[in-house]
Amino acid sequence: MKNIYIIAATLVLTLFLESNAYSGDIEEGKKLAFDRKKGNCLACHMIDDGELAGNNGPPLIAMKARFPDREVLFNQIWDPTETNPNSFMPPFGKHGAITKTEINKIIEYLYTL
Ligand code: HEC
Repeated sequence: MKNIYIIAATLVLTLFLESNAYSGDIEEGKKLAFDRKKGNCLACHMIDDGELAGNNGPPLIAMKARFPDREVLFNQIWDPTETNPNSFMPPFGKHGAITKTEINKIIEYLYTL
């Protein structure tokens, strides 16, 4: 009988830790997107509550609706010139400015927009 309590407590703790890790990714993704030495997405995109937003690129809004396919969004950040050779958005991933893990965190954040 005691075991039931232990299992329940472990489950609750696991759920708590997992949901925390998840929101941590979103926070980190936002930092990476706003960081001038990292994504610097604000230089060209209007995003949520970011100040000094540029408008060379389209505003990053309704991301989940517009990019239901995560891979398409990933590729846009990894190397926009792949789909648009004339894009002047920098190929962040290809140039090694941000890593795959970092792009995935940025995507977690973008999907909250
Ligand atoms: C130097 C300017 C510049 C920077 C910096 C930049 N972008 Fe872009 N971005 C653009 C332009 C211009 C477009 C329009 C499409 C194209 O040229 O590829 C675009 C398009 C996009 C799109 C497609 C949007 C749509 O509505 O079709 C996404 C998503 C995107 N950028 C995300 C990002 C993210 C995330 C960052 C930061 C990691 C970033 N961009 C940084 C210029 C920029």
